[in-house]
Amino acid sequence: MARVSLGMPELEAILEAALEEVGGTPGGLVPVLQRLQRELGYLPGPALAEVARRLRLPPAQVFGVATFYSQFSLKPKGKHLVRVCLGTACHVRGAPRIWEELARELEVGVDGLSRDGLATLEAVRCLGACALGPVVVVDGEYWGRMTPARVKALVRALREKGDAGEA
Ligand code: FES
Repeated sequence: MARVSLGMPELEAILEAALEEVGGTPGGLVPVLQRLQRELGYLPGPALAEVARRLRLPPAQVFGVATFYSQFSLKPKGKHLVRVCLGTACHVRGAPRIWEELARELEVGVDGLSRDGLATLEAVRCLGACALGPVVVVDGEYWGRMTPARVKALVRALREKGDAGEA
């Protein structure tokens, strides 16, 4: 099937390689989406439409798979994932203030992504470490008993690590 220009050469190259890998068969949908997610960090809408066309699948089916599995994201994600617990135990110990400090320090927009693309901020409900509240988890690493001062240290550590992918 003929290629369609998406106006994004890098995306087109990644998409072509992913489709070639699965031989353009409908059964290759999940592997194609996994590769796009891995290489782009998210699944852009135009890419999903092109995947549907090339695999001869209804766009609604492709979109449905892309939104069903938590491994996929339709929005760009930061290089680091910062999860703030807003569960009851953390809430009463000041989690909302920690959330505000992180959002301010990282300059996070309404989509949860920091302005520089360094981090995505997410709110979660109970991380199972209530005694350490307020708790923040950065790329799987727990930061307990958070204070505004520790928020500054956390953000400094993230900026020092930069693109390394580990906090
Ligand atoms: S409520 Fe935050 S870890 Fe349980």
